[in-house]
Amino acid sequence: LLRDEPKKPVKVLVTGAAGQIGYAIVAMIARGLMLGADQPVVLHLLDLPVAANALNGVRMELIDAALPLLRGVVATSDEAEAFKGVNVAIVIGGWPRRDGMERKDLISKNVTIYKSQASALQQHAAPNCKVNDDASRIRKYTISMLKHYCYYGTVKKKRARTDIYSDFAVQVCTHEVLVVANPANTNALVLKEFAPAIPAKNITCLTRLDHNRALGQVAEKLNVHVGDVKNAIIWGNHSSTQFPDASHATVSTDRGERPVRELIADEIWLREEFVTDVQQRGAAVIKARKQSSSLSAASAACDHMRDWILGTPKGTWVSMGVYSDGSYGVPEGVFFSFPVTCEKGEWSVVQGLEIDDFARSKMETSATELKEEKSIAYEFL
Ligand code: LMR
Repeated sequence: LLRDEPKKPVKVLVTGAAGQIGYAIVAMIARGLMLGADQPVVLHLLDLPVAANALNGVRMELIDAALPLLRGVVATSDEAEAFKGVNVAIVIGGWPRRDGMERKDLISKNVTIYKSQASALQQHAAPNCKVNDDASRIRKYTISMLKHYCYYGTVKKKRARTDIYSDFAVQVCTHEVLVVANPANTNALVLKEFAPAIPAKNITCLTRLDHNRALGQVAEKLNVHVGDVKNAIIWGNHSSTQFPDASHATVSTDRGERPVRELIADEIWLREEFVTDVQQRGAAVIKARKQSSSLSAASAACDHMRDWILGTPKGTWVSMGVYSDGSYGVPEGVFFSFPVTCEKGEWSVVQGLEIDDFARSKMETSATELKEEKSIAYEFL
């Protein structure tokens, strides 16, 4: 019988791994919720020296959980060791927001951490993907060649060259970085600026949590399953200026797909209550739990990476914070949340959606805030 070549393990870095989101996410990753049920992983867990004992406890629990996909755990407070050879990085570590704070109040604390992590990432992460502008032509050519042979480490053809290609493909094609720690968009920008060897397209920030919250709010309002709601959009910053937009969202019903706008005739709810509830949900959870969202953040991070790497379902888009290319008139030079579709590990912004004046002004407000955050961050750097 022919058997599929076993996949090579992907090295996944989780920073802040002893924290609440870290604790929730590591089991999700090791159970295949992020990279697929047949993708083995090695977890690289980083946290501060003061959290070393707690981190060791997480390592012990991962072993005790006897997870078949988990092929190794590196638990350390040494950045170089943690970042060594990683293919995928989930950057969660940073100062958490407390009740009464806005996410941007964390800029001064977190941007310096991100500057240092950028250097570590650039220096130690999967070495073959260190490319600069001069090398990008070679990189593009190499990737296109590799795509004939490999898909995330699964060798489809050319058995003789299996090892070279799968090794290389894992290193080149799966070098994805997701920033979760707040202020996520600006931390992602700092990471991009101080790790210039990593292509900007490989760095993203998490707005999937807000996206999922938007789907959840619509599902509750209509009393439908959340899995039947899709194509909400989060525009802008992962902050209280974000613009949750349900005007292109749809619900799958017995009579086919129907626009949310048709099912919720209450325009005031869509423009006010829905928007504010999603914008303020993180703060509401902090108020209730005295800690920020953890399981929903971990779950959203898995959704984000899974869709990015394995692709979005046909006809569905998701929200991701990405380096703006100027689409929809959004200024370049900031990480902004857009609707994106993903295929073969590449995201692209969904183009051609109609933007009315209301949406335009909300997007501008968030873009202005991002430019302000950028200049505050640069003052600290
Ligand atoms: C969230 O949205 O829940 C997280 O970003 C935590 C926070 O500070 O709100």
